[in-house]
Amino acid sequence: MKKIYSEIWKLAKLYYEKGRPMDIDHIKWMMKDAIFVCEQENLDDSLLLPLVILHDVGYAEVPKDNPFKLDLREAHMRASAIIAKRILAEVSYPKDKVKRIVRMVSIHDNWAFGENDIYKDDLVLGTFNDLDYVWMATPKGFPALMKILKKNRAQMIEYLENDDKPKSRPFSTETTKKLYLKYLEDRKKEI
Ligand SMILES: [Fe+2]
Ligand SMILES: [Fe+2]
Repeated sequence: MKKIYSEIWKLAKLYYEKGRPMDIDHIKWMMKDAIFVCEQENLDDSLLLPLVILHDVGYAEVPKDNPFKLDLREAHMRASAIIAKRILAEVSYPKDKVKRIVRMVSIHDNWAFGENDIYKDDLVLGTFNDLDYVWMATPKGFPALMKILKKNRAQMIEYLENDDKPKSRPFSTETTKKLYLKYLEDRKKEI
């Protein structure tokens, strides 16, 4: 991983340590797969990687509760944007990019409020949303979400298969779509 992203991660990790129990695993996995997607799809990583690394830092500063609750969704995006701005300034990230990254952090979960077009109109935000969703089918994300959603393995598979994400926010790249299907297939084999 590029040195600048390691620096951002080092600062962000201090917040994730105070966030949700799954957050360190969530971001570690996401950085790895985001780099893979950028390579496969020839995507510019200078916006996607900081977005991936910083998007959930705000969970450190909101009440510990079910992250699916809408007021908590809203609050963690607001807190994440403030912290992201501070961290990016600390590593002297290019100012024009900081503005775009902070904006994306502040709206990254707006699908939960019925906004789906923002992901279709922006390849970076769309690819980010793909990865944030794919996490739920990964070896560590799947059990973490089972716990949050209080579901057993079979119920969790059913939850994923009935989610409207693929319809309302179609995968932005072939690579993220393939990743999702592969992870889901692997989870099904575990039942
Ligand atoms: Fe989030
Ligand atoms: Fe996330």
